[in-house]
Amino acid sequence: MLKFSEDMRIGHPVIDADHLRLIKIINQFADVSAVHTLFDGSAPSDCAKIMHETLRSLIAYTKEHFAREEKIQRECMYAYHEMHVHEHHALVIQLEEIARTYFVRKSKRLDGKALAELKEFMNFWLVNHVMKFDVNMREWVCPKE
Ligand SMILES: [Fe+2]
Ligand SMILES: [Fe+2]
Repeated sequence: MLKFSEDMRIGHPVIDADHLRLIKIINQFADVSAVHTLFDGSAPSDCAKIMHETLRSLIAYTKEHFAREEKIQRECMYAYHEMHVHEHHALVIQLEEIARTYFVRKSKRLDGKALAELKEFMNFWLVNHVMKFDVNMREWVCPKE
């Protein structure tokens, strides 16, 4: 289960609240995938459907968050804004590709191995982005008074 750690805190209330919400959705996805894992990918189709819906809400909220974060960066004239936008774009593409592969085209089976890989990816992608990129904007979006 993913937890919001203090070193992930940016200090901007909107951005931190968004990250917390994203962690909650990722944990929801992990919960449903844990049920799916019990059946080694042959769980009732409802399970895959709920996973797909959770992934869709993760993608939707991720896009909303990225737009909000990018707007804040522009307002604060963040120097590395363009590179950051590029990173966001790449992250959305990764999530959408997962959704297409496992839930739309179903070109790969959601078996135990795939679920383990998905879980690892989910645990990595947000935290890695926050720790590698988002933390760098702290001084820009939270200026000292
Ligand atoms: Fe972020
Ligand atoms: Fe970001």
